[in-house]
Amino acid sequence: MLFDTHAHLDDRAFDCDREALISGLPEKGIALVMNPGCSLESSKNAVALAKKYPFLYAAVGSHPDAADEVDEQVLEEYRLLCREEKVKAIGEIGLDYHYEDIPREIQKKAFRMQMALAQEVGLPVIIHQREALADCLEILGDFPEVKGVFHCFSGSAQTARELTAQGWYVGFTGVLTFKNARKALEAAQAVPKDRIVLETDCPYMAPEPYRGRRNDPGYLYRMAEVLGELLEITPEETQELTLQNGKRLYGIQ
Ligand code: NI
Repeated sequence: MLFDTHAHLDDRAFDCDREALISGLPEKGIALVMNPGCSLESSKNAVALAKKYPFLYAAVGSHPDAADEVDEQVLEEYRLLCREEKVKAIGEIGLDYHYEDIPREIQKKAFRMQMALAQEVGLPVIIHQREALADCLEILGDFPEVKGVFHCFSGSAQTARELTAQGWYVGFTGVLTFKNARKALEAAQAVPKDRIVLETDCPYMAPEPYRGRRNDPGYLYRMAEVLGELLEITPEETQELTLQNGKRLYGIQ
């Protein structure tokens, strides 16, 4: 049984078959799913969805792409949502300098505000970091008690080692199955086994041999297969390891 630690099932890509798809996940070996929010609206949808399914959990937060919506009022809405039993993290939050549609200063301010909220409510964070590692680490350094996961980890083995030594988890997607996966595989090999979690980041990033299709948690077994080969453990051990890591990360019993 697998834990998809990062899936956007509230995405409109699932509007046509959401309920059927989610209901069918346990049959496909999916034990748990974490659905992070990307904005206030998506966070509310994620929480509503999590309330419907016992195996579905939610995180609340504004992605760097939605950083310009974050103000005291939005933060207060997140604070209230954190009282819901199924909300287990703040995320996804962070910095993305790839497109920079939202100016860096606005992204940093929103990131800091949401890190402060995570500290206040005592929840882990789901970090989205793209081409902004130095600034990201600087902000995280101001919140030493707050830990969580670097989702869709794209950094070096050295960075993975440093982060996990500080108590962070690293999340790996379908990239593990791609032809050019060497960097991700090296990072996964470099960290302690108890710090690795698996995720689809669906609807994006479907693993090989499904690349290009709409992704969903049902494809997570491919990431587990590749990780198991890499770590030289059985499929059952890989599933158990990553399931337990995910539960520890998000504080799920
Ligand atoms: Ni995501």
